[in-house]
Parts: sequence; structure tokens; C-alpha cells
Amino acid sequence: ASVGKDGYRHYMEKELHEHPVVIGQTLQRLVDPATRRVVLPDLRFDLAAVPRGVVTACGSAFYAGMIGRYWLEQYARLPIDIDVASEMRYRDPPLTPGGLGLLISQSGETADTLAALRGMRQQGQHIVSVLNVEQSTMARESDAVLGTVAGPEISVASTKAFTAQLSVLACLTVALGRARGHLDASAEERMVTALLDLPSRATEVFEQRDAIRRMAAIVAEARDVLYLGRGSSFPVALEGALKLKEITYIHAEAYAAGEMKHGPISLIDRTVPVVATVPSGRLFDKTLSNLQEAKARGGRLLVFTDTQGAPRLRDIAEVVVEIPTVDEFTSPILQTIPVQILAYEVALLKGTDVDQPRNLAKSVTVE
Ligand code: G6P
Repeated sequence: ASVGKDGYRHYMEKELHEHPVVIGQTLQRLVDPATRRVVLPDLRFDLAAVPRGVVTACGSAFYAGMIGRYWLEQYARLPIDIDVASEMRYRDPPLTPGGLGLLISQSGETADTLAALRGMRQQGQHIVSVLNVEQSTMARESDAVLGTVAGPEISVASTKAFTAQLSVLACLTVALGRARGHLDASAEERMVTALLDLPSRATEVFEQRDAIRRMAAIVAEARDVLYLGRGSSFPVALEGALKLKEITYIHAEAYAAGEMKHGPISLIDRTVPVVATVPSGRLFDKTLSNLQEAKARGGRLLVFTDTQGAPRLRDIAEVVVEIPTVDEFTSPILQTIPVQILAYEVALLKGTDVDQPRNLAKSVTVE
């Protein structure tokens, strides 16, 4: 079936606006509304018995996997190895039999991810794939598929599939945390409540469009942009930088905020904007001090935060995008949305072919 743009200028804009609905639909499949507990489909293996996890994917799906890694380690205490699929398939790391092999892919056809899946299977992993296209090669070769209910994604640059992948990975984290005895009922209740709250909070993100446009005007003038984040905000920064490169052709690099002093700090001056994702929470003060270092070197700070973090950032940042404060667990899901919108707004200013960026393909089925 053909899919229209519903009055939006680009598929990407339409798909950005679908974030709230897609998150809601994806969660609906995995959360029982009556008990408010995560219920996964039959995985055909015992989740509680899994000794380790290995995660792989390409592109944006890989960054979703990185956020999944932070969650699975922190909340389920599951040891995780992660790498991009093009490395994983040839690295061929020794895997503990009976481990969880976790693949993430919008299309279910990406050649490197599929090859990594087959390698994991050969080493006796239980294969769980997080897929948007549920009739795909990876779906057929998996023990279990956790579907993202994002609908067709037409824009080459992934948007809504990413937050849907995160919604699935968050539910998997809750299920694993419970199975492994690391989450009690009240912790699970808190996490599920935070997840179910996301669709409405995601809708509110769009109220920040003007502030994001002010950021975009600065980013559009730059040749290079540095993105920063810590913890689960680091992959959000990576996703932001990737999106900017893909659709605006501006060079962007993402760094773990604490690592900035070991290199990219030498690049910082007025011409290199620093885009940081700094939600309130455990790591807020650490990232704030990194931003003060960047500011002291003349850096222009463009900051994504939440209502709780904003007051402490307004003095040092040139533009602050302030989205609703949510649980630290779900904050990377919400923080991704404005970061993707920023890339879109810059692309509009640059006049690039947003939905079909040069040299890129929606699904890469060759190595
Ligand atoms: C291509 C697309 C990206 C996508 C990546 C992985 O590079 O341009 O947007 O993230 O492939 O695709 P997959 O279908 O495996 O998620």
C-alpha cells in the first residue's frame, strides 16, 4: 500500500510526528493494561537462565542497542557485549552457550546484521530480534521476534523506528530484571508507569519547536558540530550526530561527555557549536561541569534538557530546549525526539533532500 505524507512536507516530518503514537502502540503489545506488567511473547527459552547478552545492529538501530546495553546492565545486571554488526561478524567473539543474542533492525534485511545473527546462532545463542518488518529474513531466522509497531518508515533516516526499538528494549529490560531477581514489584511498577507516560510526554516535546529552530539557525551555519552526552544520553548524542550528518551533510561528531577532555576539547571555539543532551538525574552535575569546560574555551552551548535541569543550564547555554522531566529510565527515549527534530530543521534551512539523502539507502542488503 502506498503511504502518503498526510500534508507534511517530508516523510521525515510526518514520521517524527508519529513518535507518540508509535511508542504507545509498541508498548501496548508488551504491557498488560490490567496488571500493568510487562508480558513478553513466548521466547522459547528461559529468560532467567541467560548468562550474558550480545547485542548488535547497524546505524541508528545500533545506537538503540547501546541504550539497551545501559539499561540491561543497570536494571537487569546482565553482562552485555555490543558492537556494530560489520565488526561483530568478523570479530567472531567467543560466546557463552545459552546466551541472549539480541539483534535490532528496522528492515530485518541488513546484510551485516543478518550475518552476525547467523554467527551468534552457530555459537548457541538464543536469538531475539527487535524488528519493524516482521515478515523479514531476520524474523524467519530468529527464535523470537519482538515487534516494533512503527508502521512503514519511508524516510531513509530512521526516526520513529528508533523510539519504537527503545520501547521494546525497555520492556525487555523490565522482563529480564524481574526474571533475574533485580527488580521488585515496586521498581517494576515505577518503570512501567514511566513507560506508559511517554506518549503524552512525547506530544509535549513538539511545543519546543521554536527553541529547536533557534538552535537550528546556529547549527546550519557551522561546518563542524560536537555532540555530547553521558550514560544513556551518550547514544542519544551519537544518534543526533548521525542524523545531522545524514540529512544536512554537516560534519558532526558525538563524544561521551567525560571523554571530551581527551581530544575534541582542542577543537572547541565559537565556530564549533556544542550540542549536549543533559537530562536531570544522576549524571547531570558531571555533564554540567563538562559543559562549563567547553564554555570556558569559547564554545557555544546548545542544550537539550528537561524542566528540572533547565534552570541550571540557562545561564551558560545559548539555547535551551526544555522537555518534560521524566524518570531517568525513560529519559533517553524522550530526549531522542528533539535531537532528531533539530537535524530535520537544519536540513530545511540547508534545503537538502531530506527523505532521500545522497549516497544513502534505506536498507543495506549488501555487505
Ligand atoms: C541504513 C539506514 C539507517 C538504518 C541502518 C540500519 O543505513 O539509512 O537509517 O539505521 O541502515 O538499518 P536496519 O533496517 O537494519 O535498522
